[in-house]
Amino acid sequence: MQTRRAFITRATAALGLAATARHPSAASHALPSLTAQEASVQLAPESYPETSIWGYEGRTPGPVIRVPQGERLQRRLVNDLPEPTSVHWHGIRIDNAMDGVAGLTQDAVAPGQSFDYDFVVPDAGTYWYHAHNRSWVQVARGLHGPLIVEEAEAPEVDREEILVLDDWLLDRDTGLIDDSFNHPMMMSHAGRIGNLITANGRFDLSVPVRRHARLRLRLINASNARIFPLQLDGLRGWIVALDGMPLAAPEMLDDILILGPAQRADLIVDVMAGEGETAHLPRIGNDDRPAPLVAFPVSGSAAQRPRAAPGALPPNPGDGIPSLADARPLRLVMAGGAMGRMESAVLGGERLGFRELAAQGRFWAFNEMAEMTQEPLADLSLGEPVRLEIVNETVFPHAMHLHGMHFREVRDGRPAGPMRDTLMIDPRETREIAFVADNPGDWLFHCHMLSHAESGMMTWIRVT
Ligand code: C2O
Ligand code: CU
Repeated sequence: MQTRRAFITRATAALGLAATARHPSAASHALPSLTAQEASVQLAPESYPETSIWGYEGRTPGPVIRVPQGERLQRRLVNDLPEPTSVHWHGIRIDNAMDGVAGLTQDAVAPGQSFDYDFVVPDAGTYWYHAHNRSWVQVARGLHGPLIVEEAEAPEVDREEILVLDDWLLDRDTGLIDDSFNHPMMMSHAGRIGNLITANGRFDLSVPVRRHARLRLRLINASNARIFPLQLDGLRGWIVALDGMPLAAPEMLDDILILGPAQRADLIVDVMAGEGETAHLPRIGNDDRPAPLVAFPVSGSAAQRPRAAPGALPPNPGDGIPSLADARPLRLVMAGGAMGRMESAVLGGERLGFRELAAQGRFWAFNEMAEMTQEPLADLSLGEPVRLEIVNETVFPHAMHLHGMHFREVRDGRPAGPMRDTLMIDPRETREIAFVADNPGDWLFHCHMLSHAESGMMTWIRVT
């Protein structure tokens, strides 16, 4: 398999070279393109007209990008949108120049322009890509898609389903995307929570399965702010990876899986529902009742009976445990938001009261700074172990995402649990993470409730 793939890569490269030799100007067309463009799709039920969205290749979610672990991903972002954009490859331990953060690692790509992304993907797993310029607007309009890095040896399953969960705020009359992105109520509370939930762009996604079939579900929460509590119904399964990173041992999912914004989970599930029945992946609604999300109608029976529990996925190369003995201690205090009692914070070098901040669309602060600062939160030396205490003084949960590196949570004084890139932190809770600063560059650390990031919850670290 590997040999064949390598051969195809070489053959493609050879063809590319031949074309270049004949038409030197065509050399720059070698990268496959990923076009960000406006499109119309039927999101809401048929009684509504189509919704105009922004999507990669005119789709939301965008095309599935699959790359074998250790190989190169190359895409030319072509911007056909009316405003500048960029692409972030969420969860990839990436070359900093390819991280796609407009204003930090690259300039935003102007309408009509393009940018070449070209990098190696070191870790297998379920990742995603999304716009990273004005992301609270652009991701809400649909600019995201799945990025799958394939293990050399994939676990044995009958089929694999990528399930991209999204949450749309649509105008109830027109079915158009509600454009009050900067609404203070959303920014200062739980973020932009929608009124139409979709899986793979459908509010009624149905995936036909056979009884006893074993499926790998790759779940991606691409919504701006919605937290999905998920359950299995008519399915028996295990969590095998979180945020793309394999768990040391699969964990039976018999309760609720919380999937925060930007988080991913890989499940291996066996279909237990009988023929003619329907299994479900429901979400738990605000009323604590299961609400439909993805249906799995069962017809026919797979040849095999249910198998033993799946084994662990192969570990990724960066899957070490940082030693805390000489880790540099850092602290991040998150404050603000509605009912948060934040009195003041610094914006534009000046200390402003909460009302003045609010008037400028700032509702939150990290270590009393209501904006991205000139100075990083920390200036780290390459290879340095770090422990970072995160204090949530607000009355809202947040989804803290570190770019470029993966972390583990510290529990009882030691790094425990799986590697992750996005941590859900509950109201008034303090958590601690540890990681090794092993990727040089400037890396964002922000809340992935995207309107929170825009209204103050964003900082960065430098690794040199
Ligand atoms: Cu998925 Cu800075 O983002
Ligand atoms: Cu937040």
